[in-house]
Amino acid sequence: MQTQVLTAATGIALAAQLLRQGQLVAFPTETVYGLGADALCATAVAAIFAAKGRPAEDPLIVHLAELADLPQVVASVPPLAYQLAAAFWPGPLTLILPRGPAVPLAVTAGRDTVAVRIPDHPVARALLAATGRPLAAPSANRFGHTSPTTAAHVLADLDGRIAAVLDGGPTPIGVESSVLDLTTHPPALLRPGGVSLEQLQALIGTVALGPRPTSGAGLVAPGLIERHYAPTSSLWLVVSQRDGALEWLRTRTQAELVAGRRVGLLLTDEDAAALATRNVDIERLGSCHTPAQIAHQLYAALRALDARRPDLILTRHLGSDGLNRALSDRLTRAAAGRVVRLDDH
Ligand code: TXA
Ligand code: MG
Repeated sequence: MQTQVLTAATGIALAAQLLRQGQLVAFPTETVYGLGADALCATAVAAIFAAKGRPAEDPLIVHLAELADLPQVVASVPPLAYQLAAAFWPGPLTLILPRGPAVPLAVTAGRDTVAVRIPDHPVARALLAATGRPLAAPSANRFGHTSPTTAAHVLADLDGRIAAVLDGGPTPIGVESSVLDLTTHPPALLRPGGVSLEQLQALIGTVALGPRPTSGAGLVAPGLIERHYAPTSSLWLVVSQRDGALEWLRTRTQAELVAGRRVGLLLTDEDAAALATRNVDIERLGSCHTPAQIAHQLYAALRALDARRPDLILTRHLGSDGLNRALSDRLTRAAAGRVVRLDDH
């Protein structure tokens, strides 16, 4: 299959036509590129799992054009959902709600809940409006890989496996949506993302954290499994206060270089300046004072570093406040267990 690259300016109508025919089209959202299919068509949805190599038990997010479409895909809407929608939609918040009967079980991996969000990106919204259907869309990467934030990233993983990609340039936020389960009490944040825990707490009060068994298959949200968002090279994440972490990075880098291995460092601008290490590949993430800039660049930096095939990539934990919670979550998963905790962290 030849994957067509469509421009946002001229490609919307063709992309919508392909989607209505049951084909797969990748498109930009404000978080990352999604791999879209008609959410109400079980065979189109099955093609998503095949193209990504994604296990069938990992459920998909359904994207809607507007709030009025919500009753099409959910069985009921709790008042809390309307409150959250008013505050954060369109935007990087996914809500887990009771599944409506029109949504095929392939979308929800057999669950009686469904993940829903309204994306805040002009291309995504134009595509949803033109298609006139809810779109199931996971991140447009091969299963387990780093999520794509450009059309080139999508092609690197899925060229020849999908009908088209709509190129809308780099995605503004750069990390995925926050996933909030509204079918448990209190609501549970299953995945930190573009809307922070603090923002959610300010609006709805208590929010439980992290993996919760879900009804149906009885599995935790599979986005929470390790070895997600992972580069090819081994990534090591050190968790400590800054001085200790920088010292660890310096020592480990020297030891690896002495052993003849190639080291890649993923660093904030401030850390890169402080380390001033030679003979290593450094990808800079931006200033530690602007987590939004770091989020925007994180996956591209990780892919760029990975493409140069270092023997290992080293980075450090940046904190858990605001957007940092999502950043540290993704780096922890990318490290897949290679997490070094110093002092009492
Ligand atoms: O920002 C985003 O959320 C992007 C863009 C394209 O919208 N999408 C995305 O999709 O990151 P994906 O498939 O890579 O991640 C969806 C997450 C997974 O962790 C999945 O397990 C969880 O949402 N999820 C989906 N349906 C669920 C459900 N019914 N119950 C619990 N978790 C669910
Ligand atoms: Mg994903």
